[in-house]
Amino acid sequence: MNESIKKTLLVAFGVCFISSLVVSFTAVSLRSMQNENAINDQRIKILEAANIYDSSISVDEQFANLDIKYIDFENGLILDEYLDFDIESYDQLKSTRDASLSTPVPASDDIAVIKNRENVGKFYIVKDDNGLIDKLILPIRGYGLWGTLYGYMAIENDFNTVAGLVFYDHKETPGLGAEVDNPKWKALWAGKKIYDENGVKLQVIKGIVSKDDAEIEYKVDGLSGATLTARGVSNMISYWFGESGYSKLLEQLNYES
Ligand SMILES: Cc1cc2nc3c(=O)[nH]c(=O)nc-3n(C[C@H](O)[C@H](O)[C@H](O)COP(=O)(O)O)c2cc1C
Repeated sequence: MNESIKKTLLVAFGVCFISSLVVSFTAVSLRSMQNENAINDQRIKILEAANIYDSSISVDEQFANLDIKYIDFENGLILDEYLDFDIESYDQLKSTRDASLSTPVPASDDIAVIKNRENVGKFYIVKDDNGLIDKLILPIRGYGLWGTLYGYMAIENDFNTVAGLVFYDHKETPGLGAEVDNPKWKALWAGKKIYDENGVKLQVIKGIVSKDDAEIEYKVDGLSGATLTARGVSNMISYWFGESGYSKLLEQLNYES
């Protein structure tokens, strides 16, 4: 009797031990694959923002056609050489948690509720056949209703016309705020203009933009039942295309082109 209890326990422990080894081994061996998939998904979103993702071609190959650049948000200029960082691995969201790499945004300017703005941002250039800028893909983020929405806005080489908008992470409610991911809503953005002569004008309105609206090119249809998320999207555009974000860079590029 005693022996059979001992044997039962031994077998039970043996099974647990072997199972834990198998689970640990699988978790460790899949980790690099998970990381690779996460990088791949991010790259697809970047390409999708500019409407250039082609699912029949390898993501790596398409991504290699993009130029990755840094912007120094202090002066809005491109940093071709940013010696302290490896351009591929620099993580600008991580830098927002490091006081030496980011700057607190004064509450009065913080319409997107980002709290800290990284000192250096990363963005992507799509080149045309002559190696000139065709589109820019710019990271943007800002608070919606339940949390921060993270995405990319792509713009054309007039540095004012939207080429596309994609979010890769948010906490908004499915069917309400999460409609930011609805392809029909995303399709409304291409061709819209960000700036008029007074600054950032593009915004998501409440309701549907009238075809007769004289300012149709600066307005995007609202999200029904999700005005707070929609306001968050407008606010993040105002912030990131304003003075503290990309406006000086875009002015400079426009001047050079
Ligand atoms: C459970 C729940 C989830 C909601 N999720 C969202 C959301 O993700 N985004 C949003 O803007 N509003 C959301 N709302 C609605 C907001 O509270 C608010 O009513 C809405 O943004 C107003 O938009 P409307 O003027 O278009 O109706 C949610 C409401 C409830 C009860």
